[in-house]
Amino acid sequence: MAVAQGAFAGRVVAWQATHGRNDLPWQNTQDPYRVWLSEIMLQQTQVVTVRDYFARFLARFPDVASLAQASLDDVLGLWSGLGYYSRARNLHRCAQQVMELHGGAFPSTAEVLETLPGIGRSTAAAIASLCFGEQVAILDANVKRVVTRVLGFDADLAQGANVRALWDAATQLLPVGKDATSAMPRYTQGMMDVGATVCLPKKPACLVCPVHQDCVAAAAGDPQRYPVRTRTLKRSSQSIWLLWVQSKDGAVWLDKRPTPGVWAGLHCLPLFDSEDALVSQVPAALKDRVQALPVFTHVLTHKDLYLHTWQLRVPDRSTDWGEGRWVSADAWPDVGLPAPIRKLLQQGVASDHPARF
Ligand code: ADE
Repeated sequence: MAVAQGAFAGRVVAWQATHGRNDLPWQNTQDPYRVWLSEIMLQQTQVVTVRDYFARFLARFPDVASLAQASLDDVLGLWSGLGYYSRARNLHRCAQQVMELHGGAFPSTAEVLETLPGIGRSTAAAIASLCFGEQVAILDANVKRVVTRVLGFDADLAQGANVRALWDAATQLLPVGKDATSAMPRYTQGMMDVGATVCLPKKPACLVCPVHQDCVAAAAGDPQRYPVRTRTLKRSSQSIWLLWVQSKDGAVWLDKRPTPGVWAGLHCLPLFDSEDALVSQVPAALKDRVQALPVFTHVLTHKDLYLHTWQLRVPDRSTDWGEGRWVSADAWPDVGLPAPIRKLLQQGVASDHPARF
């Protein structure tokens, strides 16, 4: 290895103390519940957004026991707007498993943490190193960038064997020696902080980087080349039709999305695969009262969803609209809704585009 192991880790640790992030709400604690909750939220969401959700979650569920006892609906409701809802479902299952299989205490090793729902190798290592000082490497997207650049690791990360080699390389960089355990929390946080604040994808700030002197990519002047990954996500698109029935008192007809599928477990306007299917749900007498809203696109990880929304105002709640139920104006904001549906309902406006049946 070109990099001197202990020296590299020492530089990361020293830099973290003075230049890293040290006042985030989930720091300055070794409570695995808080660290776990924050790590799950931070998997696909930025720090600024996570701050508020983290505070709300802790206020409502102060410990793993209270989260395990909650209903999935309550958890999804509180998660609403953070996206990637499988995280919330796994969060809930994970809390229940911690109670049922581990006596209410989070396991203290990455190996066992990784057996829990929603906890992958990097998240397990983050919890074990931040809370228990275990000498295990994290390798989330930010840290992959740091490690591949430092080592000049240009093998294609689309291939599993290369990813495994990178894990081994990241493990070689960990603190060693008698103080390694106490150094681990700061080392892990330092690697995250270098990745998030210095070793940026497009404009890395190499001049202020604590491991500049170790970095193969910086020496070659081409850090943006890393990480190398050939496979591109195959994106697809899909149109869906939504029937937005709202009564005069503001109540909305919502049903719960089946599992598996798009927005599984969340409440949603009745959703159809085609315009015909939606139209067949509307009684003949009401068809000319339906308004088509402008189509809008919701971007998911693997596909673009084109949302065609048809709105119908009805005088009262006397009619049922298939599966589902009426949810009153003061209740729907608190149920778990997909972000685009929430946005739509919040706008709450009828369009001036009449539908064509
Ligand atoms: N991203 C993932 N984990 C994080 C943490 N503990 N602090 C800041 N950003 C993170």
